[in-house]
Amino acid sequence: MKLIVAADKNWGIGKDNDLLCHLPGDLKYFKEKTMGKTVIMGRKTLESLPGGKPLPKRTNVVITRDSGFAKDGCQVVHSIEEAVQKYGEEDAMVMGGAEIYTQLLEHCDTCYITEIDKEFDADKFIPNLMEHPHFKKVWESEPQEENGITYRFTEYKRIDNE
Ligand SMILES: NC(=O)c1ccc[n+]([C@@H]2O[C@H](COP(=O)([O-])OP(=O)(O)OC[C@H]3O[C@@H](n4cnc5c(N)ncnc54)[C@H](OP(=O)(O)O)[C@@H]3O)[C@@H](O)[C@H]2O)c1
Repeated sequence: MKLIVAADKNWGIGKDNDLLCHLPGDLKYFKEKTMGKTVIMGRKTLESLPGGKPLPKRTNVVITRDSGFAKDGCQVVHSIEEAVQKYGEEDAMVMGGAEIYTQLLEHCDTCYITEIDKEFDADKFIPNLMEHPHFKKVWESEPQEENGITYRFTEYKRIDNE
């Protein structure tokens, strides 16, 4: 599995069940990376999407503990293990939020991190991959700038077997 997220300098990723900032170039990058693939998300991230609706042209998998949960256009699973077992193919993209990133990180071999060069007043965070013993940054883009915010696309790879 792979993980895709935009994180600020403190590895903050959201506030009040919303993103920290609006970066159209990052949304475009997210779309390119996930199009046609399986995307795996927590129930709260689904709620945070426009209209609370699943993303078009992708297989949307939602993780919830609510056994009665149903949503048009979504496959529903009730545990991390079920998500990994049923949808954990190599190309599946973990797309948040903080609870789901944190629990699925150990199943991911690649993390696409948009590193935002700013500190926000976030209330949701993910583990700091720069200090993570099992991940190493292998690529970063030139700096991008939008809405007065500088950010870079980066790629981290698992280094367990090195
Ligand atoms: N920066 C980014 O790239 C990015 C991307 C995505 C999301 N976000 C942000 O992240 C925030 C949302 O993250 P979050 O951590 O609050 O919520 P989340 O991870 O999206 O969803 C949490 C929910 O997932 C379900 N869940 C979690 N662990 C589970 C488990 N082991 N088994 C079964 N169900 C489980 C539960 O749903 P139930 O309560 O229904 O049981 C839980 O309430 C928002 O601010 C959003 O904007 C940021």
